[in-house]
Amino acid sequence: MFDKLIYIETFGCQMNVNDSERIVTMLADLGYAPTNDPASADMILLNTCSVRGGAEEKVYRRLANLRIYKRDGKKQIIAVGGCVAQQEGEELLRKLPYLDLVIGTHNLHLLQDSIKGESRLSRFVTVMQGCDNFCSYCIVPYVRGREISRRSSDILTEVRQLADEGVREVILLGQNVNSYGLKSDHEPSFAELIRQVADVDGIDRIRFTTSHPKDMSDELIACFGDIPKLSGQIHLPAQSGSDAVLKLMGRGYTRESYLGKVRKLKSIRPDIVITGDIIVGFPGESDADFEQTLSLMEEVRYIDLFSFVYSPRPGTKAAELSDDLPRAVKMARLDRLMELQRRHTMEISLPYVGSLMTVLVEGEGKLPGQISGKADIGRIVNFTGDSSLIGSFVDVRITKAYPNSFLGEL
Ligand code: 5AD
Ligand code: SF4
Repeated sequence: MFDKLIYIETFGCQMNVNDSERIVTMLADLGYAPTNDPASADMILLNTCSVRGGAEEKVYRRLANLRIYKRDGKKQIIAVGGCVAQQEGEELLRKLPYLDLVIGTHNLHLLQDSIKGESRLSRFVTVMQGCDNFCSYCIVPYVRGREISRRSSDILTEVRQLADEGVREVILLGQNVNSYGLKSDHEPSFAELIRQVADVDGIDRIRFTTSHPKDMSDELIACFGDIPKLSGQIHLPAQSGSDAVLKLMGRGYTRESYLGKVRKLKSIRPDIVITGDIIVGFPGESDADFEQTLSLMEEVRYIDLFSFVYSPRPGTKAAELSDDLPRAVKMARLDRLMELQRRHTMEISLPYVGSLMTVLVEGEGKLPGQISGKADIGRIVNFTGDSSLIGSFVDVRITKAYPNSFLGEL
């Protein structure tokens, strides 16, 4: 079942404990089993916390200790997740040459892609950095700074280079990709940028993340109808299903306008699958507000959902709100939400059994003799096949659905 081991150390709050559990289940589909022994691990992950001072120093010290396990000749991945990773980002990779991967709290949903990024067939291309939205709970605008779009000419040059290197899929990356270019007179809209990327020969699949619902334009939604290279999956975080909570969060959309965009996406591309993020236990979230979130989930029907218990980030507006909801209530809400999501994931996944999916084969699979790749809807598919197929798109018949992946046959 598993051929690799992951060793995780978790610091800080319940949210990190939760993320670590989540990471374990996501990596299980890439063949990783948890271990308590860092020496034998194929991947070491420190899930960090930066709420208390000195946390970063502690992480640096701990990493320095752990790097001794990364002996020459052993292909071990050392990764940092959590809030320190979110705040320091690529800076960490520059500072610590033995570090392979940084997983910010904002891109947990990219974890499987990041690890498979080694395969060199699917690569991230940053299109913009920073964020101007200042959602009241979020630290990103403070630590990442104002929104800056890269020049489209630079992005396209990079994508063409990647295509020349044999990359087949690009994931356009930014905190808020669909506000790309909005603040510049010289750059195309994000929808136009996608069309330009789609014109690059050799790149056969395009994804992007993360989308802010308020900036999800009709022009962008239309791309899902007429750009065959655009993946049939979109990550569209709602954060809450309650208008009162959305307002306190400063998200700039209502439940109804969010659902309106989802309906448009589904009418333009009926087979689209949607993933999202939800925060439970935001200050002042009542039982009724929480029920609204569950009912939003029923309407959207996410294939996968990343759920977080609200945790105050010093310096943000929400950190000043009185947060008097008992911990136990928040955790009970999280449990209910996750249970509903598990049901939805399976209900959405099961009907794919028997269908054909086009899979970009990216590497070895979970079991010996298996190869593995990603379907157009972004899910991992493991199937028996020869490793000479790595790098190509193949049609796979789905035979079984799991919570985070599919099993299939060529
Ligand atoms: N508390 C809980 N969840 C948070 N997120 C961002 N900031 C916080 C916070 N302070 C969640 C949001 C975001 C995801 C990446 O992390 O749901 O979309
Ligand atoms: Fe944070 Fe909101 Fe910006 Fe996302 S859009 S990075 S949640 S401030």
